[in-house]
Amino acid sequence: MARHLITSAIPYINGIKHLGNLIGSQLPADLYARYLRARGHEVLFLCATDEHGTPAELAASKAGKPVAEYCAEMHTVQADIAKGFRLSFDHFGRSSSPQNHVLTQHFAGVLYDRGLIREVSETQMYSPTDGRYLPDRYIEGTCPNCGFDSARGDQCDNCTKQLDPVDLINPHSTISGATDLEMRETKHLYLCQSKMKDQIAAWIDTKADWPILTTSIARKWLTDGDGLQDRGITRDLDWGVAVKRGTEDWPGMEGKVFYVWFDAPIEYIACAQEWVDAGNGTDWQRWWRTDSGAADVRYTQFMGKDNVPFHTLSFPVTILGSEEPWKLADYIKSFNYLNYEGGQFSTSRGRGVFMDQALEILPPDYWRWWLLSHAPESSDAEFTWENFQSSVNKDLADVLGNFASRVTKFCRSKFGEAVPAGGIMGAREDQLIADLGARLADYQSQMDTIEVRKAAAALRALWVLGNEYLQEVAPWTTIKTDPEQAAMQTRLGLNLIRLYAVLSSPFIPDASAQLLADLNADDAAWPDDIAAALNALPAGHAFTVPEVTFRKITDDERAAWQERFSGQR
Ligand code: MF3
Ligand code: ZN
Repeated sequence: MARHLITSAIPYINGIKHLGNLIGSQLPADLYARYLRARGHEVLFLCATDEHGTPAELAASKAGKPVAEYCAEMHTVQADIAKGFRLSFDHFGRSSSPQNHVLTQHFAGVLYDRGLIREVSETQMYSPTDGRYLPDRYIEGTCPNCGFDSARGDQCDNCTKQLDPVDLINPHSTISGATDLEMRETKHLYLCQSKMKDQIAAWIDTKADWPILTTSIARKWLTDGDGLQDRGITRDLDWGVAVKRGTEDWPGMEGKVFYVWFDAPIEYIACAQEWVDAGNGTDWQRWWRTDSGAADVRYTQFMGKDNVPFHTLSFPVTILGSEEPWKLADYIKSFNYLNYEGGQFSTSRGRGVFMDQALEILPPDYWRWWLLSHAPESSDAEFTWENFQSSVNKDLADVLGNFASRVTKFCRSKFGEAVPAGGIMGAREDQLIADLGARLADYQSQMDTIEVRKAAAALRALWVLGNEYLQEVAPWTTIKTDPEQAAMQTRLGLNLIRLYAVLSSPFIPDASAQLLADLNADDAAWPDDIAAALNALPAGHAFTVPEVTFRKITDDERAAWQERFSGQR
């Protein structure tokens, strides 16, 4: 038994995420956490909401709410949706937690002491009317490139050109509309990432087993241009972690907060403290401090590819730069993007399926199965309703669901609702056991190496073996000539349903739990030995025939959903 720390990239607080976000980090992380728990390992699986930064402030003001109130509400919304998808976090924290404030300020103090944070004087737009410096996104004006009249200080949404606020024609504050903006000198903090460049590169070089997607993005940032650049880690916002060195005020930094990307990954650690403070564990240090037992922990991070630079470079600079015994990631699993019906998911246009909507129309297992079996690992992937319909109908309804239904119904009609005794197994059964053993080894090895799509394919292949066996031995025919033989085949079939429920639980936890309940099976232990596992339900063991485990998606439903989520409204 080993100990595994697992984190999923923490979703921004503003808005409900779409299915592409879900498969990019939280869902595969959950798959892995469930698998490792099922294999008997000790797991701490953490996620949180990423609550600071301009997008949170802007979303709150759009909702007409104080930002703290908005974040508290949205945290609950996101936590409920995560439950709806059966994401089995040990704790779903908040980057705005007091624990994260303290820890973020601690890291800033230590990094400053080590010479890894420097102060830089910059000129920045100040709004006397608002009484504050304005971050780029709080300034709008006319785009010097295309003439669009509401270009933002950082970018023009019309022509996509990256801008500097001083480029804008007739700039004004989006808070008050004030136009009397002036450039003033102010101080900001920079994280000296460039000083750590060689150390980070050496660390990445030791990770030969990491996904190419992860290491290639990290290497590109380490070598492109002048390599790893120093990065501003402070912002002029009200909402965020106040800039301090540990518990001390930081002269010249009054009214400033840390940049959201500085405090967000620190929340991975703070989240373990929140978990303890919420009364769960006794000790977060044994997961995070290598001087307190965490050296034995294997730490795996999950994220979309846009998050890779922050996890392979910036956060490791914070951790390594502190020279304190914090845990570094042992493995970083990253994902490409999921597209939607020939284009992209779009929050602003309502294009694609969002997490709350998905749960309104179908139970979580349908989505979990499709998303995980089509995870964007080696390249971007695409959600189409046609593919979704056909995967659900074929894999879940025709293969797994149909197997469970045929075996249990046949048993009920010929032997009643209890496992029949029957004769001893023969060569065909030995063959099945050998085939299952080989497939199970493949399934486990794909899961151990987090090859999500391949693991789904291996699991499906296990289901297919049962169907092939049933089709071939045809107990409904055998029973006419050899009832003993038919009873043995049926007993094996019932035991296979139990085995499938156990093995499928990381992918489709609800259906697995339901099948185990229908079978009255209290032994849900991961199998060591297939032959033994196929004897878990003894002769005479009572069960009930499951309700439809997976229903088919009709063509009419598919068409209606395609229309509903097309973003054309
Ligand atoms: N909120 C970011 C996103 O959704 C992810 C933050 S991950 C962390 O892209 F490391 F910063 F926590
Ligand atoms: Zn423009």
